[in-house]
Amino acid sequence: MLIPVILSGGAGTRLWPLSRQSHPKPFLELPDGETLLQKTLQRALALPGVERFLTVTNREYYFQTRDVYQRVPGAAERGAFYLLEPAGRNTAPAIAAAALQAREMAGPDALLLVLPADHLVRDQAAFAAAVAKARRLAEQGYLVTFGITPDRPETGFGYIEGGEALTEGGEALGLAVRRFVEKPDAATAAAFLAQGDYTWNSGMFCFRAEAFLSALASYQPQLDGDIRAVWAEGRRKDDYLELPAGFAQVADISVDYAVMEKTDRAAVVPGDFGWTDIGSWTAFGDLLPADADGNRVLGESVLEDVRDCIVHSPERLAALLGVEGLVVVDTPDALLIARRDRDQDVKRIVAELKRRG
Ligand code: GDD
Ligand code: MG
Repeated sequence: MLIPVILSGGAGTRLWPLSRQSHPKPFLELPDGETLLQKTLQRALALPGVERFLTVTNREYYFQTRDVYQRVPGAAERGAFYLLEPAGRNTAPAIAAAALQAREMAGPDALLLVLPADHLVRDQAAFAAAVAKARRLAEQGYLVTFGITPDRPETGFGYIEGGEALTEGGEALGLAVRRFVEKPDAATAAAFLAQGDYTWNSGMFCFRAEAFLSALASYQPQLDGDIRAVWAEGRRKDDYLELPAGFAQVADISVDYAVMEKTDRAAVVPGDFGWTDIGSWTAFGDLLPADADGNRVLGESVLEDVRDCIVHSPERLAALLGVEGLVVVDTPDALLIARRDRDQDVKRIVAELKRRG
């Protein structure tokens, strides 16, 4: 049984001031009026054979998440189940708790499809084809990632070097992973790009619950023991398991560092299904049509002698004059004006605000 696991945790600090602590990235409304979270669930439910799905999120977002899911046709029948965290501890603990839950619900052969709630996939058919291949590899015991062809030396992603071809009945399913390098520095990323046989880790994974848990036990024995203990202690209700306060004490580590860089059972299914991580204002801007001067605008605006700007001002008229390469984001209580090539540094503003408390 394939069980999608929606990970909805990160605050999305580079999309401030639209994405906030109380309104994080998965809930952010895109120009088409849908949220990233809603799109993620729709993508999961459109796959064949999905009878149940799990969502791992902060307990603060339980009601908000349920509201979003109510708008997704077919969600109610599929029995949403939530794992509620008292605090985010990154992806390894979140996935481990989901694996324990899935194994309880569907037995050791339960297959997990881990889906971050802040990605876009434009080509559902190509995505479904990649998932079908990943499932078959996962059934053979592989920890499967989805590889995206890189187009820039991005340092915010994991890089996968593909090795030997993995086939079943003569059909190519993917490649064995020779090397997995999480978030390399700029020089290493540029070298990987030049070398050509690396793909980006999309951050989506497919594996048997049991295969993941045994890899976790081998590479992170402490975390494995801690997570089993807190998962067992969790408070269980009809549609959720509330993880206890002790969850906030388990190791804060991503699945990429905890397991994927270490295992020799990783496989990659390359897939060009129009994947994007909506991680910055540039990525968000790409969702808006560009005018003849390269401006991407949401909301009413007057632009005079303006080039290559991203303007997000849904509630008030925005007027720009004689500027170039800016990001302008207006919300009722905060205004961002930044140089577009500094969009990765927006998180510094959030860090400063946090420091001020
Ligand atoms: N429930 C829960 N709890 N979800 C979490 C937590 C947590 O503590 N931490 C992160 N998540 C969710 C995020 O909301 C996001 O949907 C997903 O897990 C991945 O976390 P990110 O923090 O966005 O990871 P990243 O972007 O730095 O890196 C990962 O994704 C890249 C592709 O976007 C890695 O897997 C990279 O290797 C990969 O290239
Ligand atoms: Mg991310």
